[in-house]
Amino acid sequence: MQTNAAGRAIGLDFGTTNTVAALSRDGGSAELIGFEGAQASGSVFRSALCFWQDEGVRGGLAYEAGPWAIAEYLDYPQGSRFIQSFKSVAASPLFEHASVFDKRFRFEELGQRFLERLTGHAGSGLDTDGARIVVGRPVDYAGARADPALARERYDRMFAGFGAEVHYVYEPLGAAFSFASRLTEPTTVLVADFGGGTSDFSIVRVAEPEARPRCVPLSSSGVGIAGDRFDSRIVERLVLPLLGKGGLYRSFDKILEIPAGYFSDFSDWSKLALMRNRRTLDELGKLRRSAVEPHAIDRMIAVIENELGYALYDAVGQLKRTLSSEDRASFRFTGGGLDIEAEVNRADFEGWIAPDVARIEAAVDQALARAGMAALGIDRVFLTGGSSLIPAIRAIFARRFGEDRIGAGGELTSIAHGLALIGQSEDIAEWAV
Ligand SMILES: Nc1ncnc2c1ncn2[C@@H]1O[C@H](COP(=O)(O)OP(=O)(O)OP(=O)(O)O)[C@@H](O)[C@H]1O
Ligand SMILES: [Mg+2]
Repeated sequence: MQTNAAGRAIGLDFGTTNTVAALSRDGGSAELIGFEGAQASGSVFRSALCFWQDEGVRGGLAYEAGPWAIAEYLDYPQGSRFIQSFKSVAASPLFEHASVFDKRFRFEELGQRFLERLTGHAGSGLDTDGARIVVGRPVDYAGARADPALARERYDRMFAGFGAEVHYVYEPLGAAFSFASRLTEPTTVLVADFGGGTSDFSIVRVAEPEARPRCVPLSSSGVGIAGDRFDSRIVERLVLPLLGKGGLYRSFDKILEIPAGYFSDFSDWSKLALMRNRRTLDELGKLRRSAVEPHAIDRMIAVIENELGYALYDAVGQLKRTLSSEDRASFRFTGGGLDIEAEVNRADFEGWIAPDVARIEAAVDQALARAGMAALGIDRVFLTGGSSLIPAIRAIFARRFGEDRIGAGGELTSIAHGLALIGQSEDIAEWAV
């Protein structure tokens, strides 16, 4: 049995979209860590990096992370390389490095720079020296050929030297611990966490408040489909047709449809952020020369070369968030020769994401099957993560478990809060993956 000698534990929810840290002390409660300064947005730190060339710094490349990365990017978009959603490539054997100006960064090199800036902006609040660190991880990583062992090696290198000891815990178990602190009676809870990159589920038996252990995990499941995928559905419908998707090109004496592969990276934030490299731009240049409608390909090249990925992300996110509360919303994006204005009904969006929602439901079934339980065995459902605010997601659980069993809250912060609480448990090894 391992105890927390330092008495201080830091829960770190390194998310695809947002990162949140929380601190707990000596078996007590946990508090979120805030970020200081003008760019701060409370305790939520965007999981983004911005690089730019600066002769004055060592290596000639300066960088920032979180809200500070966004501010640097907005200051001079063309001179920036804005990288977001890079957690999505953690388990990908296809990802070797990101090319940023003339440098290459492996996953852990991006991660270390991100952590270094995150720690700096948290000031004295995030003193990792001697602390136990509890880092969340998805149950199933994003990506078609996700390799969890590779993700583990990369996380180990990213977090080397961070705190006195590092433990990895399934993200929904963090949320379960946070939710358990609101419960007063023994309860079987299904936690469903919908983030940017993954949707993760855990079924947990929560005992009465005095009991040790307080929570016993019964099963977990997950799928690499979440907010970023919903964004890509919006990009596929509203943007890609204007960039040549579905268009034609000449190949010798034939006229063929442009292969969809040219567009798949564009609608994936983690990959769009890395498309501004010589090889990709050369390929697009060749496609442009053979395309029947070269102007469409010009627009795609312009969005990449003018580093407009973040602006597009922002427009898509605004549409998606508005559709969570309204029946209808407008989409507006200008730049790179594009000027898009479209009205979208919530029902349209729900149709676009229906295949994704079906795969998410299958993962919920898997969590129940792995626990050997039927829906009736679940006393409470705890919905968390930013994408749980989408009505079609909530509807899955209302339909299966009934509205009165659903609890929600701390959409962006519950996991970090619970991970910090787990850091106080004497049997941390049993929680770790
Ligand atoms: N009101 C809303 N309606 C719909 N989606 C939303 C809303 N608010 C936030 N989101 C989405 O939630 C996602 C971010 O949620 P969250 O911070 O929980 O993810 P994350 O923890 O960074 O990702 P992951 O857990 O997958 O690594 C983004 O895709 C964002 O667009
Ligand atoms: Mg998350």
